[in-house]
Amino acid sequence: MNVIVGATGRLGSRVVERVAALGADTVAASRPVDWEASAAVLPSGVRRADVDLTVDGSVDPLVEGAQTVVATVHGRDVTTRDGSRKVDLEGSRRLLRACERGGVGQLVYVSTSSAGAQSPVDSFRYKAQIEDEIRASAVPWTILRPTHFMEVWTDVLTREVPKGRITVPGRGRTPTRWVAIDDAARAIASVVGNPAALGMTLPVAGPQALTVDEVATMLSRATPGHPRVAHVPPALLRVATIANSLHRPLFARHVRMTIALDSAAVPAPTDDELALAARVLPPARTTWQDLLAPSTSRPTAHQA
Ligand SMILES: NC(=O)c1ccc[n+]([C@@H]2O[C@H](COP(=O)([O-])OP(=O)(O)OC[C@H]3O[C@@H](n4cnc5c(N)ncnc54)[C@H](OP(=O)(O)O)[C@@H]3O)[C@@H](O)[C@H]2O)c1
Repeated sequence: MNVIVGATGRLGSRVVERVAALGADTVAASRPVDWEASAAVLPSGVRRADVDLTVDGSVDPLVEGAQTVVATVHGRDVTTRDGSRKVDLEGSRRLLRACERGGVGQLVYVSTSSAGAQSPVDSFRYKAQIEDEIRASAVPWTILRPTHFMEVWTDVLTREVPKGRITVPGRGRTPTRWVAIDDAARAIASVVGNPAALGMTLPVAGPQALTVDEVATMLSRATPGHPRVAHVPPALLRVATIANSLHRPLFARHVRMTIALDSAAVPAPTDDELALAARVLPPARTTWQDLLAPSTSRPTAHQA
């Protein structure tokens, strides 16, 4: 039995499809409320399970005896100040301990290339801490660190297209090896039950290293009306985090994430790390050109 926790998420729903295709008994788990809100349609034969990582006792029955547990959970969208800690730190720890107690054969933990003990973003610090706890645990593990998802950043950058602009938070000059969500899902499914991936921490990175500015220019060219590329100055981003941290912690966290990317606080995977990943993971081939052609669902400039 393979269990995917976070199955209603952008990445998790694709992981469910890919893991189910491996043929083993597959369980897709998420919070009860998520299923109603989510448009995810489970592949035939996949069982649904309810789990909330913030609740004691919710996790053990789910993972007991599982061959592989894939954790693709993220408290990114929690709206309380301590929400990320409850999910990304305490919730992930609860899952890890349940995997130990349940004799799970492999824990595949989806972290992020942004994880770092000194990160200015709380969830990225928690991810780094959980990575360390997993490496020190008794559970056989694989840790995957995707870079930034192309689709997520397309949404971020095109949010103001109806007002006639592509908005780049900050200077936009830091190169990133963006990865498409489906490529990341394929990489994750490839390590499920794969002994060569045990004990490995691997980056999941796409084929192109492009700056946010370069991506924004491509998005502008691919969008009807060719909206102009505008920048939000870094100083204004910093003011926005301070002004919103008390009453709009979710918004403040999102802005902090963009500052971290813009300031190169997110280290790029090294050539050695990429070479190691290439020996174990299928290549992520989707380019921005692939993703943007044809430009169908994006809004048109001046449609507000
Ligand atoms: N987004 C990116 O650009 C990016 C880049 C690199 C790595 N990653 C990593 O990829 C993974 C998935 O990211 P994503 O963008 O797909 O996230 P997402 O769409 O926000 O999905 C996260 C999933 O976790 C679920 N979840 C949240 N709190 C939970 C709880 N208490 N108990 C059980 N499930 C809970 C979510 O449910 P709700 O829908 O109710 O919140 C959702 O199903 C994360 O580990 C993230 O760090 C993301």
